[in-house]
Amino acid sequence: MEITLATLPNYLRQRPVMTRPLKQHTTFRIEEIGDGNLNTVYRVSDATHPERSIVLKHAPPYIKILGPDYPLSTERLTFEARALELYNRLTNETVPAQYDFDPEAAVIAMEDLRDANVLRDDLITGTVDTAIAEQIGQFMGTVHSRTHVHNVDNATVQHYKQQFANTTMQSITADYVFTFPFTEHETNFWTPGLESEVQRLKADTDFLAQVEHLKQIFLTAQQGVTHGDLHTGSVLVQDNTAKVIDAEFAFYGPIGFDLGLFWANYLLAHFAHQDNPHVQSALKTAIKQTWRTYTTEFEMTDTELKKQTLENIFHEAIGFTGLEMLRRLIGAAHVKDIENIIDIPQKLRAENAALQFGTTLVKQHNAFSDIAVIIERL
Ligand SMILES: Nc1ncnc2c1ncn2[C@@H]1O[C@H](COP(=O)(O)OP(=O)(O)O)[C@@H](O)[C@H]1O
Ligand SMILES: [Mg+2]
Repeated sequence: MEITLATLPNYLRQRPVMTRPLKQHTTFRIEEIGDGNLNTVYRVSDATHPERSIVLKHAPPYIKILGPDYPLSTERLTFEARALELYNRLTNETVPAQYDFDPEAAVIAMEDLRDANVLRDDLITGTVDTAIAEQIGQFMGTVHSRTHVHNVDNATVQHYKQQFANTTMQSITADYVFTFPFTEHETNFWTPGLESEVQRLKADTDFLAQVEHLKQIFLTAQQGVTHGDLHTGSVLVQDNTAKVIDAEFAFYGPIGFDLGLFWANYLLAHFAHQDNPHVQSALKTAIKQTWRTYTTEFEMTDTELKKQTLENIFHEAIGFTGLEMLRRLIGAAHVKDIENIIDIPQKLRAENAALQFGTTLVKQHNAFSDIAVIIERL
C-alpha cells in the first residue's frame, strides 16, 4: 500500500493510535520534510497546537527517487522499526522515541526532532562538536557489545539473527559500496580530472583483492546488530545531543561497518575543509574520541576475547572506512561536503587527497592498530 499526502489524513483517522501524541479530534497539518532517497517523511502537527507534532516515515513499495519501476520491499521499514525498538531499549535516548509501527502500510510514527540539524550540515558549516562523535561512539559501543555474538547467549544470538535478517538491503549495500564503484557501472560518476586515478584503482589487483576480502566479510560476518547506514546524514543533532535515525539497513553483521561509515564521512569532511586547519583539527579529535568511547563500552562487557575482538573490529572498520570514502568519490552517491565545493581545482585537490587516503586504508587495513597513528598521517 502506498500512502500519499492526499491519502494520509484518511489513513490517520483510521489508526488513531498513531497520532496519540497529538490532540484527538484535531485537524492535522501535514508537510513533507524528507530529503531521503528511498522513503517519504512527513511532519504531522496539531493544527491548533502546532508545537505538538510527530514524524511519520513511510516506505513506498519502490525506491522513492527512482519511481515505481524500481520496486523495493517495504519490509525495510520493519527492520528499521525493530532497530528503533532495540536502540531505545539498549541506549540512553540516542534515537527518537517510537510511538507506533504499522507493518502493513509500512509507516513508523516517531518523536519529531523538530529543532535538530543533520550532523552532515553542521560539519559542512564547520560546526564540529566532539561531544557528538563521543555520543555516537558510545551508541555504537553499547549496541555492538550488547548484541555481540561473544556476549549474549546462543538463543539471543539466534533471535537477533532472525530479527535482523535484512538480506535485501544488505545486498544493495554490497553492490553500491563493494562492487559497482570498482567496475564499469552506469551509476558511477566522478569529477573530470580524476579519470587516470580511477583507472589506476580499477587495475590495481592488490587493491581489488582487498576489496573482495572486505566484501566477503561484509556478506558473511555475523558479529552483532549493525545499523548499516550510519553516515553523518543519519545523525540528527538537537541541543548538543546526538540522535541516530534511518536504520532501514540494520542487519546482524560486521559491526565495524558502522564505525567505518561514520569515520569515512568525518574524513571526507576533513578533506573538504582543507583550507581550515581549526575545523580539521576538531574533526581529527572527533574521530579519535569516537574510538575511545566505543572501546570504553566494550571494555565494560565481560569477555576474555575482548582485546582480540576489538583488534579485529578495528581492522575491519578501517577497511570499510577506506571503501566508504572511495565509493563516495567515484560511485553513485556522493557527499554534499565535497560536491558543494564550486571551485573545481579545489574540489579536485580534496578528492585526490581523499582518494589516496581511502586507497591506503583499504590496502593496509590490517597493518594499523591505532586510530591516532592513522590520524597523524592526515
Ligand atoms: N524523527 C525525526 N525528526 C525530525 N526530522 C526527521 C526525523 N526523521 C527523519 N527526519 C528528516 O527526514 C530526513 C530523511 O529521513 P531518513 O530516515 O534519513 O529517510 P530515508 O531513509 O528516506 O533517507 C532526515 O534527513 C531528516 O531531515
Ligand atoms: Mg534511508
